[in-house]
Amino acid sequence: MALRDLYPIPDIDPVWSVPQDFQSVFDWRFDDGRKSMMHLYQKGKDMQWDAVSRIDWTEALDPDNPMQMPDEMSGLYHTPVWKKASDRDKAEMRRHFQAWTISQFLQGEQAAMICAAKIVQQVPDLDSKFYASTQVMDEARHVEAYKKLLEKFGLAYPMTKPLQTLVDQALRDSRWDMTYLAMQVVIEGLALAAFGNIRELSKNRLTQQVNAFVMQDESRHVAFGRLALKDYYPQLTEKERDEREEFLVEACYHMRDRFEQRETYALLGLDVDECVRLQNESGYMQVFRTMLFQRIVPIVRDIGLWSDKIKKAYADMGVLGFADVDYDELSADDEKRAQALDAEAKAARAAYVKSVADLGAAGVAAE
Ligand SMILES: [Fe+2]
Ligand SMILES: [Fe+2]
Repeated sequence: MALRDLYPIPDIDPVWSVPQDFQSVFDWRFDDGRKSMMHLYQKGKDMQWDAVSRIDWTEALDPDNPMQMPDEMSGLYHTPVWKKASDRDKAEMRRHFQAWTISQFLQGEQAAMICAAKIVQQVPDLDSKFYASTQVMDEARHVEAYKKLLEKFGLAYPMTKPLQTLVDQALRDSRWDMTYLAMQVVIEGLALAAFGNIRELSKNRLTQQVNAFVMQDESRHVAFGRLALKDYYPQLTEKERDEREEFLVEACYHMRDRFEQRETYALLGLDVDECVRLQNESGYMQVFRTMLFQRIVPIVRDIGLWSDKIKKAYADMGVLGFADVDYDELSADDEKRAQALDAEAKAARAAYVKSVADLGAAGVAAE
């Protein structure tokens, strides 16, 4: 099935081309690589998984609430728009809002695949090229998994303009580290928090699994960005670091303030500006937007872009407190959550097989 057929918006361009201007660099030293980077690469190889065999896709989703999310998690929940809506309209809103969210994940995954491929070409060190190659494959598998999930929704959305703007910057910039900064730090850092929100709040097994399994890989990708940039940034001049910080501050505000579900409101026949205003004022959205930075802030501190300018911006956004979050602990927890879902699925399969066998045995006894 082509997702393009599920876009409710007509005349979406079938392809998007971003001009590139950078050098493809070969590393002819072939040295042993940094221990920590090679360790991450080994992990990247060991932990490849296949959405076809790891996930049971037979389950249908409830069209009225595909991800089984609590209504309180909608930015419009406490507003007159929601209160006045009929049950039918509420079901439509849930389906569209959730499909929009998963679609942005899907679109971001393809962007990550292309950014990782750019890093393979451009980064000067072979160990980073090795790791980035595993990330390209990871991202392809993520696109596949989210596409399968969206097919179950029967609805998909194109990439929003604000995300497109940031991806465009990540790809056009001729400096290799800027791709990492936009993708592995900002976009993947935000995505991890958004995936985690669904993994924890969704009551639907399929959406829990897809998000938990993707997160298992994503926390490695963010760790990759941290490792590569932590080594590189101390080598830059103060002016060069300032440029990175300026970009980072802008990118963070951009993603926090402009990432809105405008397309869904328009399609549902709602007043777009009014909905955006109500949503931005909602208590849930304010907490959600703060939580989005839980993974980014400790990484930014770790890679050494930690001037007063950055701290002031994060204080203004109310997220400076995340600087002390233990990223490795969160990562270890991502791992555990994915394993627990694997164990649950295995137990459910075993119980199903046993129930079928018991039924068969009862049938034989009755004969
Ligand atoms: Fe991904
Ligand atoms: Fe990723």
